[in-house]
Amino acid sequence: MSLWLAVFLGLLGASSALYKQWVPDTNFNNQTNWDPERVPCADDRVVFAPHKKVAVFVQALHSILEMMSGVKWTSPRLMMIIMSTVSVLKRGSQPVCPQTLPLDGEILLAPDSGLVASAGRDPGCEGGQTVSFKDSDRWQWFDPPLWQAADSSEGLERGNFLFSVHEESVPCQTDDVVFRGDSSFRVDASSDRPLVPLRSLSVLGQRFLSDAELTRYLRSRLGQLQIHGDSAPQVSGAGCGDPTGCECGNSANHERICAAVRQRGPCPQLDCKKPLRPAGHCCDICGAIVMLQFSPDFRLDSYRQRLQHLFLAQPVYRAVRMAVSKVSRPRWLLGLIPRQGPPQIQVALLDPEPGSGPGAVAESLAHSIVEDALSQGWHLGITQAELQASSDSGSGSDGGVVAGAVIGVLLLLAALLLLGFLWRRGTIRMPSLPSWRKGDDIEDLGGPADIGFDNPMFDKPDGGPSADGLYGVDALNTVSFTQSGVHFSNPAYDETDFNA
Ligand SMILES: *[C@@H]1O[C@H](CO)[C@@H](O)[C@H](O)[C@H]1NC(C)=O
Repeated sequence: MSLWLAVFLGLLGASSALYKQWVPDTNFNNQTNWDPERVPCADDRVVFAPHKKVAVFVQALHSILEMMSGVKWTSPRLMMIIMSTVSVLKRGSQPVCPQTLPLDGEILLAPDSGLVASAGRDPGCEGGQTVSFKDSDRWQWFDPPLWQAADSSEGLERGNFLFSVHEESVPCQTDDVVFRGDSSFRVDASSDRPLVPLRSLSVLGQRFLSDAELTRYLRSRLGQLQIHGDSAPQVSGAGCGDPTGCECGNSANHERICAAVRQRGPCPQLDCKKPLRPAGHCCDICGAIVMLQFSPDFRLDSYRQRLQHLFLAQPVYRAVRMAVSKVSRPRWLLGLIPRQGPPQIQVALLDPEPGSGPGAVAESLAHSIVEDALSQGWHLGITQAELQASSDSGSGSDGGVVAGAVIGVLLLLAALLLLGFLWRRGTIRMPSLPSWRKGDDIEDLGGPADIGFDNPMFDKPDGGPSADGLYGVDALNTVSFTQSGVHFSNPAYDETDFNA
């Protein structure tokens, strides 16, 4: 036990966290921010909606005819502000028009940048229009395509982006969030929880690892312009302490995330026999899902890298999109009651274009991954691998039982036995059940049933079974759950939080 602890502590700090970078910006230079969609030029009038808040980052020198002003622009902490430039822009004769700048806004100037007033005659600019800054409040934090993920900050810079299921495209609780240094942004962080937990958050090159500092920043003028909404990011500074990986923690916002996905359009039409729905994804896919059970020796980080180098680097698989994550899939107690299962590693694989085909390439990759798990599982810390493919017609899993075959068999046996108890009386009275044969593994798993604690779900005030209906709901009243003394948990009856 102490050895395990030592191993575990030694690996604290190993992290399976990813870097997630926010994509949209509110930059002056980005034509997508303007209506009509072009960067204002020398003959243009620039207009900001008066009731919107925004910080606008200006890179390079822009000359524009006029920026309607009337609002005081104050100085942000990090950059120079253009109070004086704005005054210059109010070319003497023009009237001040308070309705065309945001009530609260800032212009952030990169070094050697600025807005200058033009004489209004620029042959390169065929504008002469009024160009308006688009609604700055339209970006939601929990909107998957607005994030890019990489396994390092270099990966972000090089553009080595990782594919993720929808829930994990949005920053997870152990992720490092990056807002690009050369841009301004505005994001609505409203969540179904009061806080949005993260490992760290970087803004304009400054990285926040302590929550006190971040809170101070978010209350600053610039902070309020950048991140708004009902919830606020909270940083822990600590990554995933579990070397076997951490769950993303975004399932509380699943509906919010999927609503954002659906708002962009319906899920792609699929043409495979059996579409699959990976845990944490909002749409069905054609391809394959590999579910892995793991031992404490498993390392999510290095396993993800292994799959990337061993398989995705091969030309035939290069286009396959792969999402590796730790997930808990709900298990169904008696097919009725959802219970959280033990965490597993999910490898979701899909062919490049959604709806492009039956996912055959992804599927053959999945077979290779299962083979790899079968042959190398003992040193990768994988105890069991199960494959679901969208070409399957039947129940859909050919399993590979690896080093932990014994455990798998025990789990199955125990699950069947316990299921039997539930259907019978909900108590473990071996001798009175003639068809039962009591084995050692039962002892381990079930424990002494009579002193087990009552399942709070079926708590009964009078403390005893009042009806003898063997298969009715009443039979559930006496179900006893006991702590298992063994080191693996029973997937069907894991004593975990019911809500999660
Ligand atoms: C401009 O903004 C769009 C959407 O916000 C973003 O996808 C794109 O990367 C930006 N372009 C540049 C050059 O930053």
